[in-house]
This record gives sequence, structure tokens and C-alpha cells, in this order.
Amino acid sequence: MGEKKVITFDTENGLFHLQTRESSYVMQVLNNQQLVHRYFGKKISHFSTSNKITYLDRAFAPSPISGNRTFSLDVLPLEYSSNGLGDFRTASVELRNSFGVGLDLKYRTHRIYKGKPTLEGLPSSFGTDDEVETLELELYDQLTEITVTLLYSVFEEANVLARSAKITTGAHPTKIERCLSFTLDMPRKDFVVHSLMGRYGYEKEWTRTPLTSGRYEIGSVRGGSGHSQTPFIALADESITEDSGEIYTAHLVYSGNFKAFAETSPLHHTRWGIGVNDTAFSWQLDAYQTFQTPEALLSYTDQGLTAMTHTSHAFLKHHLIKSPFVDKVRPILINNWEATYFDFTEEKILELAQLASQTGMELFVLDDGWFGHRDDDESSLGDWFVNRQKLPSGLKGLAQSINDLGLEFGLWFEPEMISMDSELYREHPDWAIQMAGREPIYSREQLVLDLSQEQVCDYVIDSVTSVLESANITYVKWDMNRNITNMPERLANGERYEFHHRYMLGLYRILDTLTTRFPHILFESCSGGGGRNDLGMMYYMPQAWASDNTDAIGRLSIQEGTALIYPISSIGAHVSAIPNHQVGRETPLETRGNVAMMGGAFGYELDLTRLDAEEIQGISHQIATYKDIRKTIQTGHFYRLSKTDNTQAVMFVNEDSSQAVFTFIKILAQPEAPLIQVRLKGLDPDAQYHCPRLDETFYGDELMNVGLTMPHVQKDYFSVQYIFNKQ
Ligand code: DGJ
Repeated sequence: MGEKKVITFDTENGLFHLQTRESSYVMQVLNNQQLVHRYFGKKISHFSTSNKITYLDRAFAPSPISGNRTFSLDVLPLEYSSNGLGDFRTASVELRNSFGVGLDLKYRTHRIYKGKPTLEGLPSSFGTDDEVETLELELYDQLTEITVTLLYSVFEEANVLARSAKITTGAHPTKIERCLSFTLDMPRKDFVVHSLMGRYGYEKEWTRTPLTSGRYEIGSVRGGSGHSQTPFIALADESITEDSGEIYTAHLVYSGNFKAFAETSPLHHTRWGIGVNDTAFSWQLDAYQTFQTPEALLSYTDQGLTAMTHTSHAFLKHHLIKSPFVDKVRPILINNWEATYFDFTEEKILELAQLASQTGMELFVLDDGWFGHRDDDESSLGDWFVNRQKLPSGLKGLAQSINDLGLEFGLWFEPEMISMDSELYREHPDWAIQMAGREPIYSREQLVLDLSQEQVCDYVIDSVTSVLESANITYVKWDMNRNITNMPERLANGERYEFHHRYMLGLYRILDTLTTRFPHILFESCSGGGGRNDLGMMYYMPQAWASDNTDAIGRLSIQEGTALIYPISSIGAHVSAIPNHQVGRETPLETRGNVAMMGGAFGYELDLTRLDAEEIQGISHQIATYKDIRKTIQTGHFYRLSKTDNTQAVMFVNEDSSQAVFTFIKILAQPEAPLIQVRLKGLDPDAQYHCPRLDETFYGDELMNVGLTMPHVQKDYFSVQYIFNKQ
């Protein structure tokens, strides 16, 4: 970055101009010190002073200036808006205190500096002084003595703007009822909203919804981000393609209740934003206290969806995931969940490990059922002591035997929970979230631990630590399998409905302590699959089990949606048995392998002892192939090439374009099926690429412009993987 300025302030005209590689973001301090938003979009060199706001007398638009009927907060593009003073749209912040409702926010001062501050108690992006510059802009309400500090960290090269807000009281206590990480007013409304919806076993369906008059909102009030929604929203041109079109995106770095919205105004503007959900939320600030919002990551491109995906993947890998494993090649694992469920013995585990090792796998992950007396999902959460009846050698002995077979050893936990049938519950019923006098709402007969209590968090830290120190464990799967209900008055207190956010602060302290204490452990997050697959978790854990749906065909849309924004290396994907345990479908091993390899945290989850020699041979072959291509898949560039209801083609190209992996899937055979021609992307046009499977060599420009005709095979669930190596 050198001396180049990415944040400038034109004192005379009150203009702030923030520039990334592709975008410009402009704000202006008006004569009455109101901060307005002027522009976010394709990078411009200057924002001219002749580009003026048009003030009009709009009926019923109230003005804060006596005698001036053309100045109204209800129609101005506000940078951070408050309710109560005449802006009737969804405000960024809503407060209540002894003065009444709302804030009259005026610019007071600002500070520009190199680098990026951390957010207290919250996960957030990071970068060096050369990579990121920060603007702290202070707004102040004289009457209530409340300061709102807006933080803008500009990652110039990475093309991302990180935003958050801090509310600080003066002498007067105040209650925050909403405090979003950002809102943005845009002078158009012809957008299509892109988001990732879904349900258990069908997470992250890429959903496109044209914005019409009114409001679009997604969010969660479960206490976790949830299977159904993802803390991500994008506003795109209607005509966007993979290679062209404007798209604005916002991620929220948070794992709890969130909301994202876009609403149009009758004047054809759009206000959109993201932040902590204001349902079931309030936060009491006493005098001289501060509330910090989670961070939102904003980006813009006019180069279409592929550019958006590449920006997101690169940013998360370089500036959000703090794990030392982020750029390391991930081990090929075997997980025993679908192989045994709760029904295993040490002997069975070692039998599986033996076969896994023979096929070339590198890590054995022991899933649920190793502790307490957990033989089904109704007991023992919280009792993190090994079950010696199942595992007579204990974790240490088992890990040693598995290591002796040449595999690393990983372990499943669900530390945020407490089973009603557990020693922990019998000792500390008050640690569970439950309401005196009311039957619990049941979910796997377990309750959620009250992580707003420091001692409960300490228990989680200590109990997990002692297990991790007891054996050679180098991988942890961190699961979370129910949401929060039956909130007692002490937590759901209407005046201080702070519990959900306090839970997240407790969880983040736990995760921070454990991931810092055990840097050699690769952590995977999970919540019944992708029920909490968000950037808050990703900050600590570089990969997530994408879904409990392991069916190759079901996985196509799940992995497509996940890969839209999350790095391929973060996507846990396993080959499982047929008939598939979730949907009963029988797909060929080759297709199960090809689809699972489209996720970068690749592994197997089936009973190897039940397979015949040919299947074991097939798996060994897949593993040998994957070892040759995994770096390209996990760390390269990902391209969506073509998609129909029946087909999908994607590819991965490594950094120097010397290797590419192409995958094509056709779901159902069809009579008189059209031939499908797919053009590749990201190759060196002048280089020659050899494809061993086709035993042919092609020029890069031929593959990218002419393309390849897909094989015409009359079988359901057909797929093919081609590897191209530069000659
Ligand atoms: C839900 C996870 O998604 C599964 O993979 C498995 O770990 C089970 N929990 C175990 O209870």
C-alpha cells in the first residue's frame, strides 16, 4: 500500500472517500453536521463537489430545521440512522432512556490510522498495517450525551470494507433496543436479493428474490444462526451472470441471532443492513459504558458472481480464519458416525481404522458416544469422561493404537449442552437453561448450558481441556444440536434481554481459549450439519460439517450454496454408504467420491468392514487421486461452469494455473438428451494441458473457448472428473 491513501477526508466539503481495489465508498458531513451516505459502487477517482443532494419539499416529511421544509431525515440517505426524529424507515439504532426515544446524531470528530482494531470479545477480521486502514468516525447526540462510533476498516487489495458500530453512554443510562452493524441507503431499488436459505439436511440453498415494494428480511431467533438462514445478504443486478453485473454483499461475523434486511422506499431507494436481531434483544448501558456490535464485511464488484465468490473466499482465508490450519492441506478422514452410530466397541473402531489406514486415509474421527453412558442421544452430555466399557484402553490407549496404524486421532464433543440424564445435570441443574414450573421443550432430551455464567464457561473450558490433554488428539469436531427455549426470567428479563448476545460472548471466550491453548488441533464446527455454519464459528474453526445429508445428489445444492461464499477448504464432505442413510438413494461410488471431493475437507463416513474388495479398491484409488489434486481443490480458485436442473459442472484451478480439476454431474438419464458442451475457465490460454483420463492434450484457450462435450452416458447419477496438468 506504501503511502497511497485509501481513506481521504476533504475537510472543506466534509467528504470521506474510502477506496478499495474495485470500489469507492463516500460519506459527507453536511453543514448541520449530519452524516449522510453519498455513494457505494465502482471505484471512482474523485467525488465531485458539484454532485449535490437534491432537497425537495416532500409532504409529511418532518424537518429538524425550523422553516426548512426540504430537509428531512426521512428522505436523506443516512449513514447511521436513529428512530424517533423523523426517519420512519428501519433505523440502524433504536434507544430508549429517561429523555425519551432516539438520537440526534451529529458528526463530532474522526481518526484515520493504519491497521485494524480487534473487537472486544467478538471474532473479527484482521490484517497488517500494509493491508488495512481504519476510519473511526464519531457521532454525538448532545442531549443524551451518547456517542456512536462507526468503524470502517478498508482492506484495499482484498476489496472488502469491515464495518461495525459502538455505542457509548455519557452520564445517563440508556437501553439499546436495536443496534445494527451497518445500514446502507442506495439510490435504486431494482435489485435481486441473494441469500442462503434451507433446512436441516438441506442447508444453504442459493435463493434469489427480486426486491419489490416493501421489505425482505431473513434472520434467526434460535440462539444460533440456524439451518434455515445464513448471516449473509447480497443485492445484485437482475441480469447478473457469473462474469458480469453488479453485486453488493454483506456477511455478518456472528453466530447468534441475526437479521438482514432490504427495504424499498416509496421514493425508490433501498435501505439494507445486517446485525444482531432486535427480536429478543435489548442491552442496558449504565453511565459511561459501551456496546460493540459484531462486524459486517461489505464488498462490491461489477464483475459478476465469480468475482464475488473469489473475493469472499480469499478474504475469509487471509483475513478472517485465524486457525494456523487455514492454508494447510487437510487430512483425509474416516468418521465412524454413519458407520456405527452409538453402537461401537474398541475392537470395531480399530477394525475400521485398520481398513482406513490400508486405503490411505490419514485421520480417524471418533464421533458421538464415547463418554458417560451414552448409548443413544438421550444422555451424558456434560460428562466428558471416557466410557471404559466401550473403550477399555481409554482415549489415550485408543489414540495410541490408531496412531500406530499411521492415522491421526480426532474426537467429537458437544460442549455447549447438558443432558438431563447426566452427572453434570444432577450436580448443577441451575447451569441449564430452563424455566421453573414449566416442562422443558424437548430436543434430544438435552438442554443448553447457560454460557452467560462465567463458571459454566470455565467448566466447559476445563472439561474439554482435560480430555484434550489426556490423549494424542489432533482434531476436534465441535457439535451443537439444539436451540434455546424456556428462557427463565433471570435471563429473559424484559429490561435486560441480553441473554442471547451474552451466550455468544461466553461461547467466543471458550472458543478463543481452547483454540489458542491447542494450536496443533484442527477444529471442525458442526450443528447437526450446517446449523451454525457462519463466520463467527469460522474465525475459530477453519472447517464445518456442511450437512448431515451425505447423499451425493442432495449435496449438490448444499455444497453449491456453501461454496458461493465460503472457502472450499472449509466445506466438510464425506463419501457415505448406499443406500444413503438420509434419502435411501443408491449412487455409484465414483459419483459419491467426485461430489465429496468438491468439498475441501474430504473424508469417508461408512462401515468399511461391510464393503467388498472392489469397493475398498475403488476407495484406495479415490484417495490416491485426491492426494494428487487436493491442494488445487482446497487452495485454488473455484469456478461454477454450468448448471441446469439435471446437470452441474464446476472446476478448481490452482494458483499458477498448472493444474485444474473439472467435475461434471448428470443426475438423471434422459431419452434424446441434449449433448452438453462445457467451457472451462481460469486456465493459461497459451499452455498445453494433458488430461490423463482422456489421454489427450489440449491448449488452454481451446478448453476455455471451444470447451468439452460431456460424455453421453445413459445412467442415472453419472459423474466424471477430469484432471488437467500443464505440460
Ligand atoms: C449431528 C452431526 O451433524 C452428526 O454428524 C453427528 O456428529 C451427530 N450429531 C452425533 O450426535
